[in-house]
Amino acid sequence: MIKAPEHIRTIKPYVPGKPIEELERELGIKNSIKLASNENPIGPSPLALKAIKNRSNCLNSLNRYPDGSGYYLKNALAEKLSVKPEEIILGNGSNELIDIAARTFMSPGDEAVMAYPSFVVYSMAVQAMGGRAIQVPLKDYKHDLNAMLDAVTPRTKMLFIANPNNPTGTMNTRTELDRLMSRVKDGILVVIDEAYYEYVTDPEYADSFKHFRNGKDILILRTFSKIYGLAGLRIGYGIARQDIITEMNKIRAPFNTNTIAQKAAIEALKDKTHVRLSQRINNNGKEYLYKELSSLGIKYVPTEANFIYMIMDKDSKTVYDALLKQGVIVRPMGPKELRVTIGLPEENKRFIGALKKSRVES
Ligand SMILES: Cc1ncc(COP(=O)(O)O)c(C=O)c1O
Repeated sequence: MIKAPEHIRTIKPYVPGKPIEELERELGIKNSIKLASNENPIGPSPLALKAIKNRSNCLNSLNRYPDGSGYYLKNALAEKLSVKPEEIILGNGSNELIDIAARTFMSPGDEAVMAYPSFVVYSMAVQAMGGRAIQVPLKDYKHDLNAMLDAVTPRTKMLFIANPNNPTGTMNTRTELDRLMSRVKDGILVVIDEAYYEYVTDPEYADSFKHFRNGKDILILRTFSKIYGLAGLRIGYGIARQDIITEMNKIRAPFNTNTIAQKAAIEALKDKTHVRLSQRINNNGKEYLYKELSSLGIKYVPTEANFIYMIMDKDSKTVYDALLKQGVIVRPMGPKELRVTIGLPEENKRFIGALKKSRVES
């Protein structure tokens, strides 16, 4: 009987946020809300939707393979970000780019340094390559970049930084990243995952592009899944020196991003109104949730993203289940930790109402 190798069998499967349909089927309830996967609650940009529905320019060409090079989207991104198209790689979500980066730069036995808790896909991608994920605990819920540097060994090939971090929503500052980049030794790829960067409000937010422009071994990842509201289309991008991108492209599937996603992303990029509205709704939701959580005496970590990490005074699974029964899906993250995505005003209210009820009942 075929058996996957040890390093594959020991990977813990990714547990996604519970889909609404699944919850409603299981509990026989209706009108549930999902605040579990950090999606944009207002939906996709209307400009992106228009592009998707366009028959002659989009739908009628679905019998053809997509443009494997993503020419137009890469050009649009290049112009917006003042980089060369050759310095961009497109991915089936930024998730795929994490995988491609690990497959490109890791060999069995190599190590990658990352924080814990952070985005779980980093360790999965590294383990899938037979590499070792070296997990460095967060300090005050934030990446401890000094400790991460101390964890580097001669076998280290990659260093992952989620900025802002998922699940805690914390960010690293310009000074912190500058210090790390000046100390990290040449030949280690620093992956800065900026999936939530459009939500950041802190002016001290790290400037990853500066290090890219300085020619460092850095890969910056971004996505259309979050503020652009296109998670279902699976499209993200990476920025790095041309030689890094060239190697990554060799193992990228030739048609990894689809026609609809490419066209929608080009339009979404132009839609500043949609981005601004999404930021406003997120900032207002954040303030509302801070106020309500504080008045309930629930500890939370101030966020630079579109979700909030909460530390409950009891078992998080109990609270999670109590919320599920009321049709509110959040994400358990640890024995006492829950993560909630900031939703529309009525969704945030519903979450707080359900949370209050769960506390009265238990
Ligand atoms: C930090 C971080 N990086 C990357 C991703 C992957 O996003 P996508 O593959 O949808 O671009 C996520 C998704 O939740 C995330 O939280």
